[in-house]
Amino acid sequence: MKFNPLKEKGLPMEKQVRTWHDIAHRKFNKNEVDCYTRTRQILMNGIEIEAWNFKHNFSRMCDDQETMEFLAQTKRIEDAQQTTINWLAPCDQSVLETTLGYEQVAVDLTAWMAQNETDKYVKVTFDFGLLEDFDHLYRYSQWAYMQHGICPNDIVQGQTDVILGRPTQNHHNCNIIRLRKPYDKNKTTPQTKVNILTLVSGEQQTHNYYAEHGFAYGNELLRETYAEIKDVEEEHVTMYESLIDPTETLYEKLLLHEFTEVCTYHNCYEDEEDELLKPIWEEFLAIELNHLQVAAELFKKHEHRDPEEVIGEEVCHPCHFESQKEYVTKVLNAEIDKRLGTDKDYLYNDELPDDWASYWVQETVGACGDPCEVTIRVINEQKHHDIVRASDKLIDSLPELMSKAMQQKGMTCDTVTPEEYEEMDRECSD
Ligand SMILES: [Fe+2]
Ligand SMILES: [Fe+2]
Ligand SMILES: [Fe+2]
Ligand SMILES: [Fe+2]
Repeated sequence: MKFNPLKEKGLPMEKQVRTWHDIAHRKFNKNEVDCYTRTRQILMNGIEIEAWNFKHNFSRMCDDQETMEFLAQTKRIEDAQQTTINWLAPCDQSVLETTLGYEQVAVDLTAWMAQNETDKYVKVTFDFGLLEDFDHLYRYSQWAYMQHGICPNDIVQGQTDVILGRPTQNHHNCNIIRLRKPYDKNKTTPQTKVNILTLVSGEQQTHNYYAEHGFAYGNELLRETYAEIKDVEEEHVTMYESLIDPTETLYEKLLLHEFTEVCTYHNCYEDEEDELLKPIWEEFLAIELNHLQVAAELFKKHEHRDPEEVIGEEVCHPCHFESQKEYVTKVLNAEIDKRLGTDKDYLYNDELPDDWASYWVQETVGACGDPCEVTIRVINEQKHHDIVRASDKLIDSLPELMSKAMQQKGMTCDTVTPEEYEEMDRECSD
């Protein structure tokens, strides 16, 4: 049935303020929670952070009293929603366990969006970023084992493969060439706008999580690994946000933020089976319907346009989570050697010019070696193989994939070679 968020009944503002107990008391059991309940929890925390942050920025540029009052009231509500959601994670869930959850979000969310994206250029960009987060999951999985003795499937529950992707050392680019072509706000669909804003929110929060927690471990190599991957997430925020039409007005952006919150909560509510979280998604959806409808009135008043021109007349489905192994394998085989071109396009390794802008960055940050490569050397010393969770077919294709992924230039001295991967003892079990 069509769900038109401009017509559905929301929760009035006076009912949106909650008690401290209600805000802070709920938490899931890390050993029992479904991995996709955890990915929803991680994503919606990022959505709320973005909603809150955007409203503070808007407030600093706003001189309309009515708008200021709406922003002032709802900033507190977004903030309390964020607390409830983020604090669903129990205190015994380690930073690395949470980190595996973050990368599972990135892989399975981006794969879902890429397949539901009507703008071809945006889809290509999603596929490109997908292989980078896929590699992060593999690198962090080695650390989760070495620091906490856990296997990645304790978190990803066999739904997401754990194996190398485009090697992390090749994710470091000149930030200027990370910039992509923006969509045209008058031509693109609400789905594309919501997809991008959802992904930007997720990537931004992944960056923030690594920034705030990467120093939680004393191991020097692990600190450097967090620093390295955090910087890639910074590039991801730059890349995905550059897809947004920069001529959208602040009232249009406000409308899109509330609409994105409505769509993501609606999607979470529809998919959720966990009894603890389902009522939260339901209540927060009702809150966002109210925010959206007020934002729509403000948009009409200040822009003299219909909100339907921007958001359409029904919700989109930006964040359905399910196993995406088949799709990810397909992209991995086709695009492991893909790189960013200088004309907002994409190139393959064998097409890169000698003066490619990212070589300088890769050679500079990797001058003392690459933490993500050394990570594999360390676990190989300890266990004689790395931690991999994938089908035999995918594991067997590893040396070939590796050879394809290798760049001629910009590789660090400690790069694990395809031959070394081939020698790792794949027979050995944990
Ligand atoms: Fe919110
Ligand atoms: Fe990542
Ligand atoms: Fe990312
Ligand atoms: Fe909101």
